Amino acid sequence: MKRLLPIAVSLVAAASIAAAAFAGPSYDADGKILIPQNMDRWPTVGTTYALSYEGDGGTTLNSVRLDPESYEAYVNTGKFPVGTIMALEVRLPITEAAPAKGGKTQGAVVGRSLHVKDEKGGPGTWTFYGYAAGQKVGSAIPRSQACYSCHDEHAGKTDTVFMQFYPTLKEAHERAASAN
Ligand code: HEC
Repeated sequence: MKRLLPIAVSLVAAASIAAAAFAGPSYDADGKILIPQNMDRWPTVGTTYALSYEGDGGTTLNSVRLDPESYEAYVNTGKFPVGTIMALEVRLPITEAAPAKGGKTQGAVVGRSLHVKDEKGGPGTWTFYGYAAGQKVGSAIPRSQACYSCHDEHAGKTDTVFMQFYPTLKEAHERAASAN
């Protein structure tokens, strides 16, 4: 029995190291999400230009990032683990960047939001959070908002994530699946 104890202790330690390695979402006392401060280092899974999905004649350049641990998990399993954070950044297009003679590139950020598989609405559910420039916390967007219905209706088969817009991630999972 005495010899088993160190093994049990080291298993617990290994489990807590594994848990610590997955950043996942953190919240303040009011349930607001703490905006991760390292999202610029996360893999970009999709970029879109002038996507007009609310019939508003879109003009922006959008990019979507995924936290690195969930990226790895998705590539290997084709599923988003609980704790997944996706970040959407909406930028105005600019044209005047030399030496470009045409085309558009990223200008100022005009929109930011997170889509988080935090199970706050029940098992497997995601919550949207909005936040403004420089804000350290984001507020949950009420479930009655169109964010939820559009994502459910058009991306319900892919866990409410718009996988049809994220070819790199999709292909990475397909490669991993065909290698097994
Ligand atoms: C009419 C459909 C529609 C509505 C309404 C909508 N979205 Fe989306 N959302 C999309 C599409 C399409 C994408 C794909 C990527 C893009 O926009 O460039 C997306 C992507 C996202 C992403 C990136 C992660 C993911 O799930 O694919 C976030 C975060 C996001 N939307 C937040 C929101 C928030 C917050 C709202 C509400 C304020 C909202 N969306 C409302 C269609 C919608």
